[in-house]
Amino acid sequence: MFLNRLGAAFLLSGVSVWMCSAVGSAVVPQTAPAKPAFSLPGLDNKPIAPFMAHADAARGDALVHQVCTSCHAMDEGASDGVGPNLSGVAGRRIAGLSSYSYSAALKGQQKQFWSDQALSDWLTSPARFAPGTRMSLVGLPDPTQRADIIAYLHTLGDAEAPAPSPDPR
Ligand code: HEC
Repeated sequence: MFLNRLGAAFLLSGVSVWMCSAVGSAVVPQTAPAKPAFSLPGLDNKPIAPFMAHADAARGDALVHQVCTSCHAMDEGASDGVGPNLSGVAGRRIAGLSSYSYSAALKGQQKQFWSDQALSDWLTSPARFAPGTRMSLVGLPDPTQRADIIAYLHTLGDAEAPAPSPDPR
Protein backbone atom coordinates (compact mmCIF):
# COMPACT_ATOMS: atom_id res chain seq x y z
CA MET A 1 0.00 0.00 0.00
CA PHE A 2 2.78 2.38 0.97
CA LEU A 3 4.69 1.51 -2.20
CA ASN A 4 1.56 2.08 -4.27
CA ARG A 5 1.16 5.55 -2.78
CA LEU A 6 4.80 6.32 -3.38
CA GLY A 7 4.52 5.19 -7.00
CA ALA A 8 1.38 7.25 -7.53
CA ALA A 9 3.09 10.30 -6.06
CA PHE A 10 6.02 9.98 -8.46
CA LEU A 11 3.71 9.32 -11.39
CA LEU A 12 1.49 12.28 -10.59
CA SER A 13 4.40 14.70 -10.17
CA GLY A 14 5.91 13.44 -13.43
CA VAL A 15 2.66 13.95 -15.26
CA SER A 16 2.15 17.43 -13.84
CA VAL A 17 5.71 18.50 -14.72
CA TRP A 18 5.12 17.27 -18.26
CA MET A 19 1.80 19.11 -18.44
CA CYS A 20 3.30 22.36 -17.18
CA SER A 21 6.02 22.20 -19.78
CA ALA A 22 3.60 21.24 -22.57
CA VAL A 23 1.19 24.06 -21.67
CA GLY A 24 4.08 26.49 -21.22
CA SER A 25 5.62 25.82 -24.60
CA ALA A 26 2.19 25.95 -26.26
CA VAL A 27 1.34 29.30 -24.71
CA VAL A 28 4.71 31.08 -24.92
CA PRO A 29 5.86 31.42 -28.52
CA GLN A 30 9.49 30.49 -29.19
CA THR A 31 10.93 33.46 -30.99
CA ALA A 32 14.63 34.23 -31.03
CA PRO A 33 15.22 37.98 -31.36
CA ALA A 34 16.41 38.97 -34.82
CA LYS A 35 18.96 41.30 -33.24
CA PRO A 36 20.78 40.97 -29.92
CA ALA A 37 19.01 43.05 -27.31
CA PHE A 38 22.15 45.08 -26.64
CA SER A 39 25.59 45.40 -28.10
CA LEU A 40 28.64 46.73 -26.34
CA PRO A 41 29.43 50.20 -27.63
CA GLY A 42 32.47 50.39 -29.87
CA LEU A 43 32.80 46.65 -30.23
CA ASP A 44 31.15 46.33 -33.63
CA ASN A 45 33.62 45.68 -36.40
CA LYS A 46 33.43 49.02 -38.13
CA PRO A 47 35.05 49.54 -41.55
CA ILE A 48 38.39 51.20 -40.84
CA ALA A 49 39.02 52.50 -44.37
CA PRO A 50 37.28 55.89 -43.86
CA PHE A 51 39.43 56.47 -40.76
CA MET A 52 42.63 55.40 -42.54
CA ALA A 53 42.15 58.36 -44.89
CA HIS A 54 42.77 60.75 -41.96
CA ALA A 55 45.15 58.57 -39.96
CA ASP A 56 48.26 60.15 -38.49
CA ALA A 57 51.28 57.87 -38.09
CA ALA A 58 52.93 60.31 -35.65
CA ARG A 59 49.95 60.12 -33.29
CA GLY A 60 50.03 56.33 -33.79
CA ASP A 61 53.73 56.30 -32.87
CA ALA A 62 52.96 58.02 -29.56
CA LEU A 63 50.04 55.69 -28.82
CA VAL A 64 52.03 52.56 -29.63
CA HIS A 65 54.79 53.67 -27.30
CA GLN A 66 52.21 54.22 -24.54
CA VAL A 67 50.18 51.06 -25.01
CA CYS A 68 52.05 48.39 -26.95
CA THR A 69 55.81 48.57 -26.43
CA SER A 70 55.61 47.09 -22.94
CA CYS A 71 54.95 43.79 -24.71
CA HIS A 72 56.08 44.29 -28.32
CA ALA A 73 59.38 45.16 -29.95
CA MET A 74 59.00 47.45 -32.96
CA ASP A 75 62.53 47.43 -34.38
CA GLU A 76 63.35 45.10 -37.22
CA GLY A 77 65.39 42.16 -35.96
CA ALA A 78 64.76 42.88 -32.27
CA SER A 79 63.84 39.82 -30.29
CA ASP A 80 60.25 39.09 -29.42
CA GLY A 81 58.96 40.28 -26.07
CA VAL A 82 55.85 39.05 -24.31
CA GLY A 83 54.29 39.47 -27.75
CA PRO A 84 55.84 39.01 -31.20
CA ASN A 85 57.98 41.65 -32.90
CA LEU A 86 55.63 44.00 -34.77
CA SER A 87 58.12 45.27 -37.34
CA GLY A 88 56.53 44.64 -40.75
CA VAL A 89 53.36 43.21 -39.22
CA ALA A 90 51.04 45.15 -41.54
CA GLY A 91 50.37 42.82 -44.47
CA ARG A 92 52.16 39.91 -42.82
CA ARG A 93 50.50 36.53 -42.39
CA ILE A 94 48.62 36.30 -39.10
CA ALA A 95 50.76 34.47 -36.52
CA GLY A 96 53.45 34.42 -39.21
CA LEU A 97 56.71 34.67 -37.24
CA SER A 98 58.49 31.35 -36.89
CA SER A 99 60.51 32.75 -33.97
CA TYR A 100 57.44 33.30 -31.80
CA SER A 101 55.21 30.66 -30.29
CA TYR A 102 51.68 31.92 -30.79
CA SER A 103 48.60 30.72 -28.96
CA ALA A 104 46.44 28.14 -30.73
CA ALA A 105 43.78 30.84 -30.91
CA LEU A 106 45.88 33.09 -33.14
CA LYS A 107 47.41 30.19 -35.07
CA GLY A 108 43.87 29.27 -36.03
CA GLN A 109 43.74 32.49 -38.09
CA GLN A 110 46.96 31.76 -40.02
CA LYS A 111 45.12 31.58 -43.34
CA GLN A 112 44.56 35.33 -43.22
CA PHE A 113 46.87 38.31 -43.48
CA TRP A 114 47.02 41.40 -41.31
CA SER A 115 45.04 43.73 -43.54
CA ASP A 116 44.08 47.12 -42.13
CA GLN A 117 40.61 45.77 -41.40
CA ALA A 118 41.95 42.64 -39.67
CA LEU A 119 44.28 44.79 -37.55
CA SER A 120 41.39 47.09 -36.69
CA ASP A 121 39.11 44.21 -35.68
CA TRP A 122 41.95 42.66 -33.65
CA LEU A 123 42.72 45.89 -31.83
CA THR A 124 39.02 46.54 -31.19
CA SER A 125 38.91 43.37 -29.13
CA PRO A 126 41.71 40.78 -29.33
CA ALA A 127 39.64 38.34 -27.29
CA ARG A 128 36.77 38.52 -29.73
CA PHE A 129 38.97 38.34 -32.85
CA ALA A 130 40.76 35.24 -31.53
CA PRO A 131 38.98 33.85 -28.46
CA GLY A 132 41.65 32.43 -26.18
CA THR A 133 44.44 34.72 -27.37
CA ARG A 134 47.25 35.50 -24.97
CA MET A 135 47.27 39.19 -25.86
CA SER A 136 45.65 40.59 -22.74
CA LEU A 137 44.66 43.97 -24.10
CA VAL A 138 41.06 44.96 -23.48
CA GLY A 139 40.87 46.71 -26.82
CA LEU A 140 40.79 50.16 -28.32
CA PRO A 141 37.19 51.26 -28.95
CA ASP A 142 38.18 54.51 -30.71
CA PRO A 143 38.50 53.95 -34.50
CA THR A 144 40.62 57.10 -34.86
CA GLN A 145 43.20 55.68 -32.47
CA ARG A 146 43.16 52.31 -34.23
CA ALA A 147 43.68 53.98 -37.61
CA ASP A 148 46.58 56.05 -36.24
CA ILE A 149 48.21 52.92 -34.83
CA ILE A 150 47.72 50.97 -38.08
CA ALA A 151 49.22 53.85 -40.06
CA TYR A 152 52.23 53.75 -37.76
CA LEU A 153 52.55 49.96 -38.08
CA HIS A 154 52.77 50.50 -41.87
CA THR A 155 55.90 52.60 -41.38
CA LEU A 156 57.72 49.75 -39.58
CA GLY A 157 60.04 47.22 -41.17
CA ASP A 158 60.33 46.84 -44.90
CA ALA A 159 57.73 49.41 -45.88
CA GLU A 160 58.58 48.98 -49.57
CA ALA A 161 57.65 45.30 -49.57
CA PRO A 162 54.70 44.64 -51.87
CA ALA A 163 51.48 43.54 -50.24
CA PRO A 164 51.43 39.74 -50.21
CA SER A 165 49.03 38.18 -52.65
CA PRO A 166 46.11 36.46 -50.98
CA ASP A 167 46.56 32.78 -50.26
CA PRO A 168 45.91 30.97 -53.57
CA ARG A 169 44.39 27.95 -51.82
C1 HEC B 1 50.09 42.78 -22.28
C2 HEC B 1 50.98 42.55 -23.39
C3 HEC B 1 50.53 43.12 -24.75
C4 HEC B 1 50.18 44.40 -25.05
C5 HEC B 1 50.07 45.60 -24.14
C6 HEC B 1 49.93 44.41 -26.48
N1 HEC B 1 50.13 43.15 -27.01
FE1 HEC B 1 49.94 42.61 -28.96
N2 HEC B 1 50.34 40.69 -28.49
C7 HEC B 1 50.64 40.23 -27.22
C8 HEC B 1 50.77 38.79 -27.25
C9 HEC B 1 51.09 37.89 -26.04
C10 HEC B 1 50.53 38.40 -28.60
C11 HEC B 1 50.49 36.98 -29.14
C12 HEC B 1 49.05 36.56 -28.99
C13 HEC B 1 48.77 35.10 -29.23
O1 HEC B 1 49.66 34.33 -29.62
O2 HEC B 1 47.59 34.75 -28.99
C14 HEC B 1 50.29 39.63 -29.34
C15 HEC B 1 50.04 39.66 -30.72
C16 HEC B 1 49.87 40.82 -31.45
C17 HEC B 1 49.71 40.88 -32.89
C18 HEC B 1 49.76 39.70 -33.84
C19 HEC B 1 51.16 39.62 -34.43
C20 HEC B 1 51.42 38.51 -35.42
O3 HEC B 1 52.58 38.26 -35.72
O4 HEC B 1 50.45 37.88 -35.91
C21 HEC B 1 49.55 42.20 -33.22
C22 HEC B 1 49.35 42.77 -34.61
C23 HEC B 1 49.60 42.95 -31.98
N3 HEC B 1 49.78 42.09 -30.92
C24 HEC B 1 49.49 44.32 -31.93
C25 HEC B 1 49.48 45.05 -30.73
C26 HEC B 1 49.32 46.48 -30.68
C27 HEC B 1 49.20 47.40 -31.88
C28 HEC B 1 49.31 46.82 -29.36
C29 HEC B 1 49.10 48.18 -28.75
C30 HEC B 1 47.86 48.83 -29.07
C31 HEC B 1 49.49 45.59 -28.59
N4 HEC B 1 49.60 44.54 -29.46
C32 HEC B 1 49.57 45.53 -27.21
C33 HEC B 1 50.80 41.00 -26.08
C34 HEC B 1 50.50 42.34 -25.98
